[in-house]
Amino acid sequence: MTGSRPESVLITGGASGIGLACARAFAAEGYSVGLFDLDRDKAEAAAAGLGIGDRATAFCGSVTEEGDLAAAVAAMEDRFGGVDCVVTSAGIVKVEPAFEVAPETFRNTLEVNVLGTWLAAQAAARSMAKAGGGSIVMLGSVYGAGGAPHRAAYCASKGAVHMLVESLAVEWGGLGIRVNAVAPTGVRTPMIDRLVAEGLYDMKGVHGRTPLGRLAEPEEVADACLFLAGRRAAMVTGHVLRVDGGWLANGYILN
Ligand SMILES: NC(=O)c1ccc[n+]([C@@H]2O[C@H](COP(=O)([O-])OP(=O)(O)OC[C@H]3O[C@@H](n4cnc5c(N)ncnc54)[C@H](O)[C@@H]3O)[C@@H](O)[C@H]2O)c1
Repeated sequence: MTGSRPESVLITGGASGIGLACARAFAAEGYSVGLFDLDRDKAEAAAAGLGIGDRATAFCGSVTEEGDLAAAVAAMEDRFGGVDCVVTSAGIVKVEPAFEVAPETFRNTLEVNVLGTWLAAQAAARSMAKAGGGSIVMLGSVYGAGGAPHRAAYCASKGAVHMLVESLAVEWGGLGIRVNAVAPTGVRTPMIDRLVAEGLYDMKGVHGRTPLGRLAEPEEVADACLFLAGRRAAMVTGHVLRVDGGWLANGYILN
């Protein structure tokens, strides 16, 4: 609780996958939840499905549009008294050989994954600064910490997100705003389902590369976000928390 009101979280990409799992986890911990997504119908259905009544709301918009995010933050202030936390989960991936990546694909990937993360963080931080602090949790990736074939734009975008964490943590620490990220390995979400359906995801290779031998569940990533957002992580900022089953620890060559 913040004073007499429940804490609130704005979740971009909240209608699906990791964002939706975060919405459920934060709702269960008593947060008021704002779901921000391109997909209006899914966002509204997800908000209603949280089963927390007026403590949930949906916003339709794009993270690439500063005005959409500003409107969502203003509505969160009116309705919930502020934005104590933002989880930036909106993201896209396209898997293709580097020689085939069109400028538009590269631009779009960076625009949604980097600019969109940045704009959401900035909009929320403006509100947090007025309130004396808050917490930002970004969705990074193991592909922001190590390369992978056929993901040039995606890897570049997630590396940038990891660096945003560090630069913003340094700049905004004095405002009481903590900035962290989670870096998952593959997570069982619609994003991965789509790649599997298109034959673009090497499930056997990912399992083999991962010491724990499986993909992560969205709820496992949400738990890490919840930890970083809350007061148990009060002294944690500028950190990228791996939720990767040991992926990045693994320097062993598989056969
Ligand atoms: N699934 C994985 O294996 C995995 C692994 C590591 C990191 N991540 C990252 O986690 C985040 C969530 O991924 P996911 O697997 O839940 O994906 P997902 O495709 O299931 O959900 C992404 C959501 O973001 C929304 N979205 C896309 N572009 C948007 C925009 N411009 N504005 C607002 N909303 C937009 C989509 O409508 C969708 O609801 C992404 O940043 C992704 O890169 C995913």
